Amino acid sequence: MIDFKKKIAQEINDPSFGLTDEEIAGLIEIPGDTSHGDFAFPCFRLAKVLRKAPPLIAKDVAERISGSSLFQKVEPVNAYVNMFMNKELVAADVVNAVLTQGRDYGRSDIGKGRTVIVEYSSPNIAKPFHIGHIRSTVIGNAIYKLYDEMGYNVVRINHLGDYGTQFGKMIVAYRLWGDPDELAKDPIKTLLGYYTRFHREAEKDPSLDDKAREAFAKLEAGDEEEVALWQKFRELSLKEFSRVYEMLGITFDSYAGESFYSDKMPAVIEELKEKGLLQESRGAQIVDLESMGISTPAVIQKSDGSSLYATRDIAAAIYRKKTYDFYKCIYVVASQQNLHFQQWKAVLQLMGYDWQKDCVHVPFGLVSLPEGTMSTRNGRVVFLEDVLNTAVEKTRDIIAEKNTEGIDVDQVAKQVGIGAVIFQELSNNRIKDYVFDWDNVTNFDGETGPYVQYTHARACSVLRKASRGDLEKLKDVQDLDFRYITSESGYQLIKDLYRVPEVIMDAGEKYEPSILTRHLVDIAQSFNKFYHDEHILVDDEKEKLAKLALVSASRTVIANCLGLLGIQAPERM
Ligand code: ARG
Repeated sequence: MIDFKKKIAQEINDPSFGLTDEEIAGLIEIPGDTSHGDFAFPCFRLAKVLRKAPPLIAKDVAERISGSSLFQKVEPVNAYVNMFMNKELVAADVVNAVLTQGRDYGRSDIGKGRTVIVEYSSPNIAKPFHIGHIRSTVIGNAIYKLYDEMGYNVVRINHLGDYGTQFGKMIVAYRLWGDPDELAKDPIKTLLGYYTRFHREAEKDPSLDDKAREAFAKLEAGDEEEVALWQKFRELSLKEFSRVYEMLGITFDSYAGESFYSDKMPAVIEELKEKGLLQESRGAQIVDLESMGISTPAVIQKSDGSSLYATRDIAAAIYRKKTYDFYKCIYVVASQQNLHFQQWKAVLQLMGYDWQKDCVHVPFGLVSLPEGTMSTRNGRVVFLEDVLNTAVEKTRDIIAEKNTEGIDVDQVAKQVGIGAVIFQELSNNRIKDYVFDWDNVTNFDGETGPYVQYTHARACSVLRKASRGDLEKLKDVQDLDFRYITSESGYQLIKDLYRVPEVIMDAGEKYEPSILTRHLVDIAQSFNKFYHDEHILVDDEKEKLAKLALVSASRTVIANCLGLLGIQAPERM
């Protein structure tokens, strides 16, 4: 596809500017208001070299480039050169690119030869996979897909919370009140019940906490009985988690969680000692971070010798660097853990690991439900699986009211219901807290997943109505004549499609899938406007083919983008 900014830059550039074409291209803007053109070039930067007022420069540039076949119209407005593109040229270029590249439209190879780790989801075993986990899971999955789309070799890691003192508590609770039958029936809810009970009873009987510490120490030491119980909790939990992953269509390359690093921690502690970084503080081993501008020290080892979450993260980073030699290691973890990640990076830096700069914490805000927030300790939780199932049910009711001819209602309800939850999750700027909104999530008319999926199905339906012969002819993209796409909305749609590769890159580089989600809503809105403004299956053959080509390209791009967000694109709904 033509890189229009580059092409325009070549037209605009002049030796007297003293700038490269790339620099000029970097200055070119896409005006928010289309009445200012498709592209605009601000002339402020040139004023000094040319010793001329920017509006005069704009006038000169406009005059010089207005003859180019790239443009329909060029207008100097104050310090800007506003450029209106030759619509047919843009349309032909974009639609041809999409139709020939298909699924590959939007892909690039800027990441070729580089490995990126995306760590996401990472729930804690023996604890519910609750609605709060959706964020890391779904945002992380989209980031993985965006990096894959940019040609990186991506490794997906689920850093399971499968280790730590809480397992001491769980073991003690299970020994006191555990019922194997109950456990087998509904593992996590049962384990959660024990855990909640443990906290209630430990308030009255503090000796329980001592027992829990002891049990964890035994687990760390590899005591057979403790390890067996822990393993049982882990297996049962993973089985439940995989049900949710399957519903969401998410897979991982590695489930190396916290426990995986248990045998790699002594070496880390040794290394910290050797590098003179460890200090004793009230019996615990800490790294003071005052010199790094962080007033809270990192606790590396507790007074009873047990290891900590932070220590495991240090071991994990070192292991990953050695194993994968990553270009970037991305951690998709809640902003509540900002301090933890600051401390952890600071420790790695003090250890002399320059590559810590390639470790990126991608934080996100809280999700809450209208009925209030949740806490694992008092057992008030909303399971993610229940939320997904409810979304599927609600969607099934909505679909059932429509014409369901030729529709596999069960399958579509799943694709749309789950897609709706994912889409809502990825619509907001990730750092913002948000309230899960049942009214909006499955709304077919809002800026929602179902709306975008419906638009895709609508495009599919138009293509189904076209004759086979017409569809055959679309393959010969050279013959299409885009003069027939005359509406503003049609041209807006083309421009939206054109921007997709750039939007994918932007979303990936900013670790912000919502950039793509919002652009996808724009595409859907433009498509629907175009569909409303223009007759597509008209009698005139050339006109019909040009319009069908645009419908087909839109369908492909919407499906591609939904895929990048981890959402399916049913052909009928
Ligand atoms: N298991 C943790 C939790 O649920 C998240 C782990 C985040 N990843 C990490 N490398 N610390 O809060």
